[in-house]
Amino acid sequence: MAEFKVTPWDVEGTVDYDKLIAQFGIKRLDDSLIGKLGKHTKDVHYLIRRRAFYAHMYLENVLADVDRGKKIYLYTGRAPSGPVHLGHIIPWMLTKWLQERLGAPLLFQIPDEEKFLFKDITMEETGKWAKDNILDIIALGFDEKKTKIFLDTEYAGHMYKHACMAAKRITLSTAKSVFGFDNSSNVGQLFYTCMQSVPAFLPSIIEGEPTQCLIPCAVDQDVHFRVTRDIAPHLGYPKPSTLLCKFFPPLQGIGGKMSASREDTAVYLTDTQKDVEKKIRKYAFSGGKDSVEEHRRLGGNPDIDVSFVWLTFFEEDDKKLEKIRDEYKSGKMLSGELKQILIDKLNVFLADHQKKREKAKDRVEKFMMRD
Ligand code: TRP
Repeated sequence: MAEFKVTPWDVEGTVDYDKLIAQFGIKRLDDSLIGKLGKHTKDVHYLIRRRAFYAHMYLENVLADVDRGKKIYLYTGRAPSGPVHLGHIIPWMLTKWLQERLGAPLLFQIPDEEKFLFKDITMEETGKWAKDNILDIIALGFDEKKTKIFLDTEYAGHMYKHACMAAKRITLSTAKSVFGFDNSSNVGQLFYTCMQSVPAFLPSIIEGEPTQCLIPCAVDQDVHFRVTRDIAPHLGYPKPSTLLCKFFPPLQGIGGKMSASREDTAVYLTDTQKDVEKKIRKYAFSGGKDSVEEHRRLGGNPDIDVSFVWLTFFEEDDKKLEKIRDEYKSGKMLSGELKQILIDKLNVFLADHQKKREKAKDRVEKFMMRD
Protein backbone atom coordinates (compact mmCIF):
# COMPACT_ATOMS: atom_id res chain seq x y z
CA MET A 1 0.00 0.00 0.00
CA ALA A 2 1.30 3.40 -0.96
CA GLU A 3 1.54 5.80 1.95
CA PHE A 4 1.32 8.80 -0.35
CA LYS A 5 -1.28 10.05 -2.82
CA VAL A 6 -0.79 12.25 -5.87
CA THR A 7 -3.69 13.70 -7.86
CA PRO A 8 -3.70 16.85 -10.06
CA TRP A 9 -5.36 18.67 -7.13
CA ASP A 10 -3.77 17.33 -3.98
CA VAL A 11 -0.61 15.70 -2.77
CA GLU A 12 -0.58 13.78 0.50
CA GLY A 13 2.31 12.15 2.30
CA THR A 14 5.90 11.80 1.20
CA VAL A 15 6.05 11.19 -2.52
CA ASP A 16 8.04 8.17 -3.70
CA TYR A 17 8.89 9.24 -7.24
CA ASP A 18 10.02 5.79 -8.31
CA LYS A 19 6.76 4.24 -7.22
CA LEU A 20 4.92 7.01 -9.01
CA ILE A 21 6.47 5.87 -12.29
CA ALA A 22 4.77 2.50 -11.89
CA GLN A 23 1.53 3.97 -10.53
CA PHE A 24 1.14 6.44 -13.38
CA GLY A 25 2.53 4.16 -16.07
CA ILE A 26 5.05 6.79 -17.15
CA LYS A 27 8.64 6.28 -18.34
CA ARG A 28 11.88 7.15 -16.61
CA LEU A 29 13.93 9.73 -18.48
CA ASP A 30 17.07 7.79 -19.34
CA ASP A 31 20.54 8.80 -20.52
CA SER A 32 20.02 7.71 -24.10
CA LEU A 33 16.93 9.87 -24.56
CA ILE A 34 18.63 12.80 -22.82
CA GLY A 35 21.53 12.33 -25.25
CA LYS A 36 19.13 12.53 -28.19
CA LEU A 37 17.57 15.70 -26.81
CA GLY A 38 21.03 17.14 -26.19
CA LYS A 39 21.90 16.78 -29.89
CA HIS A 40 19.30 19.44 -30.65
CA THR A 41 19.70 21.65 -27.58
CA LYS A 42 23.54 21.77 -27.63
CA ASP A 43 23.84 21.31 -23.88
CA VAL A 44 21.48 19.68 -21.40
CA HIS A 45 19.59 21.91 -18.96
CA TYR A 46 20.63 21.43 -15.33
CA LEU A 47 17.06 20.59 -14.31
CA ILE A 48 17.25 17.61 -16.67
CA ARG A 49 20.85 16.73 -15.80
CA ARG A 50 19.91 16.62 -12.14
CA ARG A 51 16.72 14.74 -12.86
CA ALA A 52 14.35 17.33 -11.45
CA PHE A 53 12.71 16.34 -14.73
CA TYR A 54 12.85 12.62 -14.29
CA ALA A 55 10.07 11.06 -16.31
CA HIS A 56 8.27 11.47 -19.63
CA MET A 57 5.84 10.00 -22.09
CA TYR A 58 6.57 9.80 -25.82
CA LEU A 59 9.42 12.31 -25.78
CA GLU A 60 10.97 10.16 -28.51
CA ASN A 61 8.13 11.07 -30.88
CA VAL A 62 8.80 14.77 -30.48
CA LEU A 63 12.53 14.27 -30.99
CA ALA A 64 11.88 12.22 -34.12
CA ASP A 65 10.02 15.17 -35.63
CA VAL A 66 12.69 17.63 -34.49
CA ASP A 67 15.16 15.32 -36.26
CA ARG A 68 13.16 15.58 -39.46
CA GLY A 69 13.05 19.36 -39.19
CA LYS A 70 9.30 19.31 -38.62
CA LYS A 71 7.68 21.98 -36.48
CA ILE A 72 6.74 20.97 -32.94
CA TYR A 73 4.85 22.94 -30.26
CA LEU A 74 5.26 23.38 -26.54
CA TYR A 75 2.30 23.64 -24.20
CA THR A 76 2.06 24.34 -20.49
CA GLY A 77 -0.29 26.11 -18.09
CA ARG A 78 -1.21 27.63 -14.78
CA ALA A 79 -4.52 27.55 -12.92
CA PRO A 80 -4.61 30.87 -11.05
CA SER A 81 -5.69 30.96 -7.39
CA GLY A 82 -2.95 32.99 -5.73
CA PRO A 83 0.48 34.48 -6.31
CA VAL A 84 3.12 32.56 -8.24
CA HIS A 85 5.73 30.87 -6.06
CA LEU A 86 9.15 29.42 -6.85
CA GLY A 87 7.76 25.91 -7.33
CA HIS A 88 5.41 26.98 -10.11
CA ILE A 89 8.16 28.34 -12.29
CA ILE A 90 10.32 25.21 -12.41
CA PRO A 91 8.47 23.75 -15.43
CA TRP A 92 8.25 27.20 -17.00
CA MET A 93 12.01 27.73 -16.77
CA LEU A 94 12.54 24.50 -18.66
CA THR A 95 9.81 25.42 -21.14
CA LYS A 96 11.54 28.72 -21.85
CA TRP A 97 14.84 26.96 -22.44
CA LEU A 98 13.19 24.43 -24.76
CA GLN A 99 11.52 27.26 -26.67
CA GLU A 100 14.90 28.93 -27.19
CA ARG A 101 16.79 25.82 -28.10
CA LEU A 102 14.16 24.21 -30.33
CA GLY A 103 12.71 27.46 -31.69
CA ALA A 104 9.26 26.14 -30.87
CA PRO A 105 5.99 28.03 -30.47
CA LEU A 106 4.42 27.85 -27.01
CA LEU A 107 0.77 27.70 -25.99
CA PHE A 108 0.33 28.84 -22.39
CA GLN A 109 -3.09 28.00 -20.96
CA ILE A 110 -4.55 29.90 -18.02
CA PRO A 111 -7.55 27.80 -16.98
CA ASP A 112 -9.21 30.51 -14.91
CA GLU A 113 -12.17 28.20 -14.25
CA GLU A 114 -10.15 25.28 -12.80
CA LYS A 115 -9.65 26.44 -9.22
CA PHE A 116 -13.18 27.90 -9.20
CA LEU A 117 -14.52 24.41 -9.94
CA PHE A 118 -12.24 22.58 -7.51
CA LYS A 119 -11.58 24.96 -4.63
CA ASP A 120 -13.38 27.56 -2.57
CA ILE A 121 -12.61 30.59 -4.71
CA THR A 122 -14.75 32.92 -6.85
CA MET A 123 -14.34 33.54 -10.58
CA GLU A 124 -13.60 37.20 -9.76
CA GLU A 125 -10.66 36.10 -7.67
CA THR A 126 -9.30 33.61 -10.22
CA GLY A 127 -9.65 36.35 -12.86
CA LYS A 128 -7.69 38.78 -10.73
CA TRP A 129 -4.93 36.22 -10.11
CA ALA A 130 -4.84 35.35 -13.80
CA LYS A 131 -3.90 38.96 -14.64
CA ASP A 132 -1.31 38.97 -11.88
CA ASN A 133 0.21 35.59 -12.76
CA ILE A 134 0.53 36.49 -16.45
CA LEU A 135 3.04 39.20 -15.46
CA ASP A 136 5.27 36.58 -13.84
CA ILE A 137 4.97 34.34 -16.88
CA ILE A 138 5.95 37.11 -19.29
CA ALA A 139 8.77 38.23 -16.98
CA LEU A 140 10.40 34.81 -17.32
CA GLY A 141 11.37 35.80 -20.86
CA PHE A 142 9.26 33.79 -23.29
CA ASP A 143 9.59 34.87 -26.92
CA GLU A 144 6.73 37.29 -27.61
CA LYS A 145 6.62 36.28 -31.29
CA LYS A 146 6.30 32.60 -30.46
CA THR A 147 4.18 32.54 -27.30
CA LYS A 148 0.41 32.68 -26.99
CA ILE A 149 -1.21 33.02 -23.56
CA PHE A 150 -4.96 32.47 -23.23
CA LEU A 151 -7.58 32.38 -20.51
CA ASP A 152 -10.16 29.61 -20.84
CA THR A 153 -12.99 32.08 -20.19
CA GLU A 154 -11.74 34.31 -23.03
CA TYR A 155 -10.70 31.70 -25.57
CA ALA A 156 -13.47 29.19 -24.94
CA GLY A 157 -15.18 30.01 -28.23
CA HIS A 158 -12.26 28.50 -30.13
CA MET A 159 -11.86 25.64 -27.70
CA TYR A 160 -15.44 24.58 -27.03
CA LYS A 161 -16.05 22.51 -30.12
CA HIS A 162 -12.86 20.55 -29.56
CA ALA A 163 -13.57 20.18 -25.85
CA CYS A 164 -16.92 18.60 -26.77
CA MET A 165 -15.20 16.19 -29.12
CA ALA A 166 -12.95 15.18 -26.26
CA ALA A 167 -15.88 15.04 -23.81
CA LYS A 168 -17.80 12.59 -25.97
CA ARG A 169 -14.86 10.17 -25.75
CA ILE A 170 -14.52 10.29 -21.94
CA THR A 171 -16.99 8.20 -19.97
CA LEU A 172 -18.09 8.80 -16.41
CA SER A 173 -16.45 5.55 -15.46
CA THR A 174 -13.07 6.68 -16.88
CA ALA A 175 -13.32 10.04 -15.12
CA LYS A 176 -14.13 8.31 -11.83
CA SER A 177 -11.31 5.84 -12.00
CA VAL A 178 -8.64 8.19 -13.35
CA PHE A 179 -9.41 11.27 -11.25
CA GLY A 180 -11.19 9.69 -8.29
CA PHE A 181 -14.46 11.58 -8.84
CA ASP A 182 -17.52 10.38 -6.96
CA ASN A 183 -21.21 11.22 -6.68
CA SER A 184 -20.47 14.45 -4.85
CA SER A 185 -18.20 15.81 -7.61
CA ASN A 186 -19.72 18.64 -9.63
CA VAL A 187 -20.13 18.21 -13.40
CA GLY A 188 -17.79 21.13 -14.09
CA GLN A 189 -15.00 19.11 -12.52
CA LEU A 190 -15.80 16.23 -14.83
CA PHE A 191 -15.72 18.45 -17.91
CA TYR A 192 -12.62 20.39 -16.94
CA THR A 193 -10.12 17.78 -18.15
CA CYS A 194 -11.48 18.29 -21.70
CA MET A 195 -10.44 21.94 -21.52
CA GLN A 196 -6.96 20.94 -20.46
CA SER A 197 -6.77 18.45 -23.34
CA VAL A 198 -7.68 20.88 -26.11
CA PRO A 199 -4.43 22.89 -26.20
CA ALA A 200 -2.60 19.60 -26.84
CA PHE A 201 -4.63 19.34 -30.06
CA LEU A 202 -4.35 23.01 -31.04
CA PRO A 203 -0.93 22.58 -32.72
CA SER A 204 -2.49 20.13 -35.19
CA ILE A 205 -5.56 22.34 -35.59
CA ILE A 206 -3.50 25.50 -36.17
CA GLU A 207 -1.05 23.84 -38.57
CA GLY A 208 -3.74 21.89 -40.40
CA GLU A 209 -1.76 18.65 -40.11
CA PRO A 210 -0.75 16.28 -37.30
CA THR A 211 1.78 18.19 -35.20
CA GLN A 212 3.65 16.98 -32.12
CA CYS A 213 3.06 18.73 -28.83
CA LEU A 214 5.48 18.57 -25.89
CA ILE A 215 4.13 19.43 -22.44
CA PRO A 216 6.66 20.24 -19.69
CA CYS A 217 4.81 20.06 -16.35
CA ALA A 218 4.82 18.67 -12.83
CA VAL A 219 4.30 14.92 -12.68
CA ASP A 220 0.78 15.17 -11.18
CA GLN A 221 -0.53 16.72 -14.41
CA ASP A 222 0.26 13.62 -16.44
CA VAL A 223 -3.05 12.18 -15.27
CA HIS A 224 -4.90 14.66 -17.49
CA PHE A 225 -2.64 13.92 -20.41
CA ARG A 226 -3.02 10.17 -19.99
CA VAL A 227 -6.68 10.72 -20.83
CA THR A 228 -5.66 13.07 -23.66
CA ARG A 229 -3.36 10.39 -25.09
CA ASP A 230 -6.15 7.81 -24.99
CA ILE A 231 -8.56 9.94 -26.99
CA ALA A 232 -6.11 11.70 -29.34
CA PRO A 233 -5.90 8.98 -32.02
CA HIS A 234 -9.70 8.77 -32.20
CA LEU A 235 -9.82 12.47 -32.99
CA GLY A 236 -7.02 12.26 -35.55
CA TYR A 237 -4.30 13.87 -33.44
CA PRO A 238 -0.91 12.55 -32.33
CA LYS A 239 -0.64 11.60 -28.67
CA PRO A 240 0.88 14.53 -26.77
CA SER A 241 4.24 14.02 -25.03
CA THR A 242 4.98 15.05 -21.49
CA LEU A 243 8.23 15.94 -19.77
CA LEU A 244 7.58 15.51 -16.06
CA CYS A 245 9.23 17.07 -13.03
CA LYS A 246 9.26 16.38 -9.34
CA PHE A 247 7.67 18.82 -6.92
CA PHE A 248 9.61 21.72 -5.55
CA PRO A 249 9.52 20.99 -1.81
CA PRO A 250 7.88 23.30 0.75
CA LEU A 251 10.11 25.06 3.29
CA GLN A 252 8.94 22.63 5.99
CA GLY A 253 10.58 19.59 4.44
CA ILE A 254 11.18 17.56 1.29
CA GLY A 255 8.69 15.01 0.05
CA GLY A 256 5.53 17.07 -0.29
CA LYS A 257 4.35 19.81 -2.61
CA MET A 258 4.43 23.52 -1.95
CA SER A 259 1.03 25.02 -1.29
CA ALA A 260 0.13 28.51 -2.47
CA SER A 261 -2.47 28.73 0.28
CA ARG A 262 -0.06 28.47 3.24
CA GLU A 263 2.15 31.50 3.24
CA ASP A 264 4.96 30.10 5.32
CA THR A 265 5.58 27.12 3.03
CA ALA A 266 6.54 29.09 -0.06
CA VAL A 267 8.57 31.98 -1.43
CA TYR A 268 6.54 34.10 -3.85
CA LEU A 269 7.99 35.89 -6.83
CA THR A 270 6.70 39.13 -5.36
CA ASP A 271 8.32 38.64 -1.94
CA THR A 272 10.70 41.34 -0.72
CA GLN A 273 14.34 40.62 0.09
CA LYS A 274 13.40 40.80 3.76
CA ASP A 275 10.52 38.29 3.32
CA VAL A 276 12.88 35.85 1.66
CA GLU A 277 15.48 36.20 4.37
CA LYS A 278 12.91 35.81 7.14
CA LYS A 279 11.14 32.80 5.62
CA ILE A 280 14.31 30.88 4.96
CA ARG A 281 15.91 31.64 8.29
CA LYS A 282 12.76 30.80 10.20
CA TYR A 283 11.14 27.95 8.25
CA ALA A 284 13.60 26.19 5.92
CA PHE A 285 13.96 22.69 7.31
CA SER A 286 17.59 22.04 8.10
CA GLY A 287 19.58 18.86 7.69
CA GLY A 288 22.15 20.23 10.09
CA LYS A 289 22.91 19.01 13.58
CA ASP A 290 21.52 20.51 16.78
CA SER A 291 24.74 22.08 18.02
CA VAL A 292 27.66 23.63 16.15
CA GLU A 293 30.01 21.24 17.90
CA GLU A 294 28.03 18.20 16.75
CA HIS A 295 27.62 19.63 13.24
CA ARG A 296 31.38 20.20 12.88
CA ARG A 297 32.00 16.63 14.05
CA LEU A 298 29.29 14.75 12.13
CA GLY A 299 28.35 17.12 9.29
CA GLY A 300 24.91 17.92 7.83
CA ASN A 301 22.63 15.95 5.56
CA PRO A 302 22.15 17.91 2.31
CA ASP A 303 19.58 15.45 0.94
CA ILE A 304 16.94 16.40 3.49
CA ASP A 305 18.01 20.02 3.85
CA VAL A 306 15.46 22.25 2.12
CA SER A 307 17.96 25.06 1.52
CA PHE A 308 20.28 22.67 -0.28
CA VAL A 309 17.49 21.04 -2.23
CA TRP A 310 16.20 24.47 -3.32
CA LEU A 311 19.72 25.33 -4.50
CA THR A 312 19.66 22.26 -6.74
CA PHE A 313 16.76 23.97 -8.55
CA PHE A 314 18.35 27.43 -8.74
CA GLU A 315 22.15 27.11 -8.73
CA GLU A 316 23.07 26.30 -12.33
CA ASP A 317 26.75 25.74 -11.66
CA ASP A 318 27.39 22.05 -10.91
CA LYS A 319 30.82 22.72 -9.45
CA LYS A 320 29.55 25.34 -7.01
CA LEU A 321 26.73 23.05 -5.96
CA GLU A 322 29.06 20.10 -5.36
CA LYS A 323 31.39 22.24 -3.29
CA ILE A 324 28.49 23.33 -1.11
CA ARG A 325 27.34 19.72 -0.75
CA ASP A 326 30.81 18.53 0.28
CA GLU A 327 31.42 21.32 2.74
CA TYR A 328 28.00 20.93 4.32
CA LYS A 329 28.33 17.18 4.57
CA SER A 330 31.76 17.39 6.14
CA GLY A 331 30.62 19.90 8.75
CA LYS A 332 32.83 22.67 7.37
CA MET A 333 29.74 24.66 6.35
CA LEU A 334 27.05 25.42 8.93
CA SER A 335 23.29 25.57 8.37
CA GLY A 336 23.25 29.33 8.74
CA GLU A 337 25.92 29.67 6.05
CA LEU A 338 24.04 27.39 3.70
CA LYS A 339 20.85 29.38 4.26
CA GLN A 340 22.72 32.60 3.48
CA ILE A 341 23.91 31.20 0.14
CA LEU A 342 20.31 30.37 -0.77
CA ILE A 343 18.99 33.74 0.41
CA ASP A 344 21.57 35.58 -1.72
CA LYS A 345 20.91 33.39 -4.76
CA LEU A 346 17.15 33.89 -4.57
CA ASN A 347 17.34 37.60 -3.89
CA VAL A 348 19.52 38.20 -6.94
CA PHE A 349 17.05 36.22 -9.04
CA LEU A 350 14.00 37.95 -7.56
CA ALA A 351 15.40 41.48 -7.89
CA ASP A 352 15.88 40.87 -11.61
CA HIS A 353 12.52 39.13 -11.96
CA GLN A 354 10.65 41.93 -10.24
CA LYS A 355 12.12 44.51 -12.62
CA LYS A 356 11.05 42.42 -15.59
CA ARG A 357 7.64 41.94 -13.98
CA GLU A 358 7.15 45.73 -13.91
CA LYS A 359 8.08 45.97 -17.58
CA ALA A 360 5.73 43.08 -18.41
CA LYS A 361 2.74 45.30 -17.56
CA ASP A 362 3.04 47.08 -20.92
CA ARG A 363 3.64 43.91 -22.89
CA VAL A 364 0.63 41.79 -21.93
CA GLU A 365 -1.35 42.40 -25.13
CA LYS A 366 1.55 41.16 -27.26
CA PHE A 367 1.07 37.72 -25.75
CA MET A 368 -2.69 37.36 -25.35
CA MET A 369 -4.88 35.25 -27.59
CA ARG A 370 -8.64 35.76 -27.33
CA ASP A 371 -11.76 34.71 -29.20
N1 TRP B 1 -3.95 22.15 -14.14
C1 TRP B 1 -2.84 23.05 -14.08
C2 TRP B 1 -2.75 23.67 -12.67
O1 TRP B 1 -3.33 23.21 -11.76
C3 TRP B 1 -2.95 24.14 -15.11
C4 TRP B 1 -2.67 23.65 -16.52
C5 TRP B 1 -3.50 23.75 -17.58
C6 TRP B 1 -1.49 23.01 -16.98
N2 TRP B 1 -2.91 23.23 -18.71
C7 TRP B 1 -1.69 22.77 -18.36
C8 TRP B 1 -0.31 22.64 -16.36
C9 TRP B 1 -0.67 22.14 -19.13
C10 TRP B 1 0.68 22.04 -17.11
C11 TRP B 1 0.48 21.79 -18.49
O2 TRP B 1 -2.04 24.65 -12.46
